[in-house]
Amino acid sequence: MCGIVGYVGTEQATPILLEGLSRLEYRGYDSAGVAVYSRQQEALRVYKAKGRLRVLSDMLQGGAAADGTTGIGHTRWATHGAPSDVNSHPQVSHSGKIAVVHNGIIENYAELKEFLLSEGVPFTSETDTEVVAQLIAYFYEGEHLSLLEAVGRTLLRLEGAYALGILCADAPDKLIAVRKDSPLILGYGEGCSFLASDVTAILRYTREVGYMDDGEVAVLTRDGIACYNYLMQPIEKEIIHIDWEIDAAEKGGYEHFMFKEIMEQPEALRRCIFPRVRDGAVYFEDFHLSDDYICALKKICIIACGSSYHVGVVGKYHLERMTRIPVEVALASEFRYMDPIVDSSTLVVVISQSGETLDTMAALREAKRLGAHVLSIVNVVGSSIARESDQVLYTWAGPEIAVATTKGYSTQLAVVNLLGVYFARVLGTMTAQACVDLLEEMLLLPGKMEQVLAHPEDIQYWASQYFNHDSVFYIGRNVDYALGLEASLKLKEISYVHSEAYASGELKHGTISLVEDGTLVVALGTYGRLFEKAMSNVVEVKARGADVLALTTESRAAEMAKTATAVLTIPDTHELVLPSLGVVPMQLFAYYVALMRGCDIDKPRNLAKSVTVE
Ligand code: G6P
Repeated sequence: MCGIVGYVGTEQATPILLEGLSRLEYRGYDSAGVAVYSRQQEALRVYKAKGRLRVLSDMLQGGAAADGTTGIGHTRWATHGAPSDVNSHPQVSHSGKIAVVHNGIIENYAELKEFLLSEGVPFTSETDTEVVAQLIAYFYEGEHLSLLEAVGRTLLRLEGAYALGILCADAPDKLIAVRKDSPLILGYGEGCSFLASDVTAILRYTREVGYMDDGEVAVLTRDGIACYNYLMQPIEKEIIHIDWEIDAAEKGGYEHFMFKEIMEQPEALRRCIFPRVRDGAVYFEDFHLSDDYICALKKICIIACGSSYHVGVVGKYHLERMTRIPVEVALASEFRYMDPIVDSSTLVVVISQSGETLDTMAALREAKRLGAHVLSIVNVVGSSIARESDQVLYTWAGPEIAVATTKGYSTQLAVVNLLGVYFARVLGTMTAQACVDLLEEMLLLPGKMEQVLAHPEDIQYWASQYFNHDSVFYIGRNVDYALGLEASLKLKEISYVHSEAYASGELKHGTISLVEDGTLVVALGTYGRLFEKAMSNVVEVKARGADVLALTTESRAAEMAKTATAVLTIPDTHELVLPSLGVVPMQLFAYYVALMRGCDIDKPRNLAKSVTVE
């Protein structure tokens, strides 16, 4: 959601900005723009265009058309004001001297705009961001403060969440970066400096980065970066070396990131699980929850959004079964406003692939305020959620670029299971042998997943039979219901097919009235204990004319085939590993349906990878 990149150095800035923005496209956007300082014209030049980045890139002839060695760029995901050229960022003050790119929302922008209008400042866009550019100019030009002072004075007036990149025509050798509740990183290059929403934007140029903390301001020049805290006192920033390969964030011959990331799941799971399992036990790196603390826990509360929330729904079934501690699952956007019953006897488990989801972050802070210990399960190392949690378990899935998460989901699920085993051993709620049995199956999971991934053509065939349905129902019980939630979300987010997931037992309470001749029902029947019940539900919907695409384990496929229209299978495995395997055919089904419908799979309309606004 919105991407920021900035460069100051000796090279031409625009090609670097365009390259950086292309790496941020995955976050979701609807328009793009750059501002550079042109020495020839001694002024800022601003180029903006609604639509895909390639429209801007064509306008700029790949960067050749805009000369200058300092600049800022942005991909916008519209919040205030429709997607349009004029509402795109950078937003520029009416004097043309101050250009700003912004990620987040300025909550009091209307009030500030009213003030500036009353002072005679003319506005051109509907954005909240223009207020920031105009206010800095108001203090800088109107009250003759230094640029840094003008920025500082502006920040005192802003409410909301923001990451800002600021360029001033009078100071063309510097950029100013500001962060509050919206991620921003600094990049340290040779004779140049960068700012960006995330490391993928600048990885090609530097691997030395600094993570800005809330309230911090940075001044970037080609010679280095000076950082200040919210009191404008100088601070030292820790420089972190990023060691991923850039290929990890590229398509590597695949048509879509989503397909690549589905295929990467076995490897991601090996990275996530194998180093943590030894001699029938789980070992977490840098883990500091004491056995006494675990034994005194009264409740676990899982908080997340989107697919991470769906991991939480599976987690409730799994963790309660393994630990016998009551587990609640809450949507972060609900939790933060529901006056939750959480205290120091509650472990709050926050799940987030990006580590930047704003609602999840707000819920985390609320949980901490209430005295809970927060353990987060996060993929992006050094992200805001990881840094604010008391304890982090990384999923080690590697960079995930497609908006629809796949390897993020499966590695989160693996960490939840490992956590369950760890707790169960401390609590004595699983025998040593039961732990060994589960861990052995977890070690076999990547290999079994490879078996499923080796034959995507069956799933592709069934997608070709059903891709033009307008509505799909997913049904299942227990963990199959939890799996259905994720399967349904995958389908709707990338193919725009309406779909719903229902607990099969609820069919008779309403949903079955929607089933008629030719309705597609995806029946999830992997959970052995409830297989007979799953079969009965298949019979029920078949009797009303539904086409049933069923998912079950190999050992039950023949039984399921007696009733269902078609059966997809996964290898048999431990009950607590079933959703990890079962999700794969569902991801592939959604992928192929979206492909056949001609959708923009990696960047579905209106969606963003990292949702950094409320
Ligand atoms: C967005 C993404 C989803 C993701 C959700 C939560 O909606 O498109 O794939 O599940 O955010 O994100 P998080 O990074 O917190 O897991």
